[in-house]
Amino acid sequence: MASYKRLPVDEFDNEQPFKSTTTADKKRRIFHFITAAAIMVAIFSGLRHVSKSNSKFLWGSAGCHGRLNMSTASKLPSHYTLPSGDKIPSVALGVWQAGSGEVGTAVKTALDAGYRHIDGAWIYRNEEEVGQALKEASVPRSDIWLTSKLWNTFHAPEDVEPALDESLTKLGTDYLDLYIIHWPVAFKKATTNIDEQLTADPYPTWQKLEEMVAKGKVKNIGVSNFNIPRLKNLTANPLKIQPAVNQVELNFFNPQPELLKYCKENNLLLEAYSPLGSTQQVGATLKRPEVVEIAKDLGITPAQVIISWHVQRGTIVLPKSVTPSRIEENLQIFELPKASFDKLEEAATSHPPQRVINPSKAWGLKFDVFDDYPY
Ligand code: A2P
Repeated sequence: MASYKRLPVDEFDNEQPFKSTTTADKKRRIFHFITAAAIMVAIFSGLRHVSKSNSKFLWGSAGCHGRLNMSTASKLPSHYTLPSGDKIPSVALGVWQAGSGEVGTAVKTALDAGYRHIDGAWIYRNEEEVGQALKEASVPRSDIWLTSKLWNTFHAPEDVEPALDESLTKLGTDYLDLYIIHWPVAFKKATTNIDEQLTADPYPTWQKLEEMVAKGKVKNIGVSNFNIPRLKNLTANPLKIQPAVNQVELNFFNPQPELLKYCKENNLLLEAYSPLGSTQQVGATLKRPEVVEIAKDLGITPAQVIISWHVQRGTIVLPKSVTPSRIEENLQIFELPKASFDKLEEAATSHPPQRVINPSKAWGLKFDVFDDYPY
């Protein structure tokens, strides 16, 4: 049970600012008290009004690129600037687990709702349908941020460009805004057997990604699922281009504050995948009492609380949905009052981390991909 230090009454008595006891002084004190109380009430109701008005579609239906209502504009960033100078939208539609026959509609719904950032990968096996949706949509390619990821089987330098070309063809584009090494794990060609050398040292793979930037096929490059030792291992090399992002699992149950701090200190933007806790944990996340309470208080949805929290932490957020109403809902982010943000951060970081995604066993690895092995 917590014990609280009781402040000695004398401490207050000794600091009494008013020593005078005349009637005039008493009246003046009452007047000052009433005036101060009135000012406090006015400020408080003003803040309530601002916080309520902020809860109305801050980005409008045009989302991250337009129709920002300046009178209610959120201070949360709609974009982050990468070292290349490119601006990446802070909220994306994630398409992992968006199945065939539904992902294309999800992408079109998202573009209509105002999303301008689609986060995909070769291994999601839906790039062709995403590409078709992009082709059918009326948004110009140059207005859309497109990310894809290099799968584990293609880490050998000679396999990088063909893998990238396949993604480009399927997506129907001649460049990606961002290309990411999907896992710090290399498989031997056409197998799921680990290539220990390229896993321990991803520099040859990285150099090939740098070459893809030089060729104009990719604008920015990054990594995914790298922990701090693996980031240090890669960046200890004489890189021509530093990784712009690290895409990792970040959610209420796995908030990774140390990694977030390290990445901020090293100018590396974190991207939050499974931000709502993915299929397994989304229900539990959105029912957390802290989340529900903040949502009620601000008049927004629990999912909006979580998505806003991610951006307020300074990360990109990649919520996945194939449900039109949720796709629209997830784009509306709001600056949480500091007390709410702190409460949520405290709740998320005060329990042992619990990952949803860890393929180490499924891949038959002799180590946990998130442990410090092999360095
Ligand atoms: P669905 O795709 O059927 O809409 P994450 O982004 O963490 O990977 O979570 C994805 C899961 O969360 C999916 O099951 C998705 O369902 C669900 N989801 C996405 N947005 C919302 C939302 N606003 N409210 C409730 N569930 C959501």
